[in-house]
Amino acid sequence: TIVILDFGAQYTQLIARRVREFNVFSVVLPCTASLESIRAQNPIGIILSGGPSSVYDADAPKADPAVLKFGLPTLGICYGMQFMAHHLGGKVTPADKREYGDAVVDVKKTNKLFAGLPAKLDVWMSHGDSVVELPAGFVIAGETHNAISSIADEKRNMYAVQWHPEVAHSKQGTELLKNFVLNICGAKADWTPAHFITSTVEAIKKQVGDGHAICALSGGVDSAVAAVLVSRAIGDRLTCIFVNNGVLRKNEFEQVQNNMRKKLGLKVVAVDASKRFLSQLGGITDPETKRKIIGREFITVFDDEAARILADQEKNGELQHDAAGNEIAWLVQGTLYPDVIESSSVKGPSQTIKSHHNVGGLPENMKLKLIEPLRDLFKDEVRRVGRDLGMPEEVLERQPFPGPGLAVRIVGEITPERVEILQNADDIVVSEIKKAGLYKQIWQSFAVLLPVKSVGVMGDQRTYAYTCAVRAVHSDDGMTADWVPLPYEVLKTISSRIVNEVRGINRVVYDITSKPPGTIEWE
Ligand code: XMP
Repeated sequence: TIVILDFGAQYTQLIARRVREFNVFSVVLPCTASLESIRAQNPIGIILSGGPSSVYDADAPKADPAVLKFGLPTLGICYGMQFMAHHLGGKVTPADKREYGDAVVDVKKTNKLFAGLPAKLDVWMSHGDSVVELPAGFVIAGETHNAISSIADEKRNMYAVQWHPEVAHSKQGTELLKNFVLNICGAKADWTPAHFITSTVEAIKKQVGDGHAICALSGGVDSAVAAVLVSRAIGDRLTCIFVNNGVLRKNEFEQVQNNMRKKLGLKVVAVDASKRFLSQLGGITDPETKRKIIGREFITVFDDEAARILADQEKNGELQHDAAGNEIAWLVQGTLYPDVIESSSVKGPSQTIKSHHNVGGLPENMKLKLIEPLRDLFKDEVRRVGRDLGMPEEVLERQPFPGPGLAVRIVGEITPERVEILQNADDIVVSEIKKAGLYKQIWQSFAVLLPVKSVGVMGDQRTYAYTCAVRAVHSDDGMTADWVPLPYEVLKTISSRIVNEVRGINRVVYDITSKPPGTIEWE
């Protein structure tokens, strides 16, 4: 394992992903992690991340400097370099000039970290403080015209760089990290999807034994991959629940069931609760209220169904018991590694963390335990694992779709007719984007139904119907997004098909707002 100590930089997760791209397992621990918890990971190398502070700030993130005495290969990045220099007896001061953005580093003395790299490195910098005096045993390995940008003590296998090799702007960054991980730490490249699948399936088998598990499917990638992994371990002792909340996309209720049952071999209980959701949503126009209603109804429907399934299993004497005689069942969740990192981050847990939700309506002595088979994985790794599990691309490459579904894309009141209108328009947008070969490269592309009616003409008839907005955005993580300049031909086909084929819409507009200031969804 490569342990990455997080001093709070926004790029820390990126370091972990880069290391994993070399098929080497890496974990991110908060810099405040105890020495025992670091050792417990069996590290073969340590990376000290960047961070927003100065080593002299009173509230600078603290790590135990003893981590520098582990005798393990260590790489300091940005703040990590200053931390290393400061605690090993060097000197760090605020630089005259802040270095920000692209820079060129002259390699002064090459070493194992720079093996195979050119004498001038194109790097991306972001720092205020600089190392001005070296700790004993270190030499200057690289410099810009402003500052020392890399130091090394090859004897102790300690290296540091002032720039961010993990970001794509640092051209030789990947090679540099590879040198550290594979050559200096001597990591074995055995963190592969196949290896992950075998070891996870084994672990679930051990954990769950002859127990039963339930899982909520959303139709998205994470819950599907989590369910398939668990079903590899315990077969049809896993029951998946898929709820129609009335605001799914056109034919989605049937398609997801079909995919999950026929293509993935999962045992799926499909619950059509659309009437109940739509009646609760009737007359509601406030976006947050819509979300709350859907969240609340989902939990009620899921809980009822889970309680019914588990009560049956209990009646048949199929459930496990713990030492105190309580009945146990397992709940599968598709929690990903970024959520896990966030919840222990030095910046404090974020609000997005999913909390363990306990199924109501269960007998007092029934305990639900959590299985989170994806909690070590990043999103792209989930897809790789899914591919290795033989899952269809249709499931793996699906664009993100919000939990509250089309409800946040129907501005104004949600009625069954308006849901159907949007389903039909959305289906045209998605199928034309797919036809144009653009679906995979676009983060999200969809239709939004506006409450605005306008006058139109069709044949000899005057029409008065709704407006549909088309939205397509590029994004890496949904936090920021750019609108996509879709080819005019594609827009033209989408527009003419919608006004011709979808009753209720006579006007189509294209949303050219990026995020910020717009959000991706309209509500
Ligand atoms: P916004 O609209 O905030 O969306 O720019 C960012 C990303 O999050 C998705 N999204 C949601 N996902 N429940 C979800 O599961 C929600 O309530 C929700 N709201 C927005 C949105 O589709 C985009 O990918």
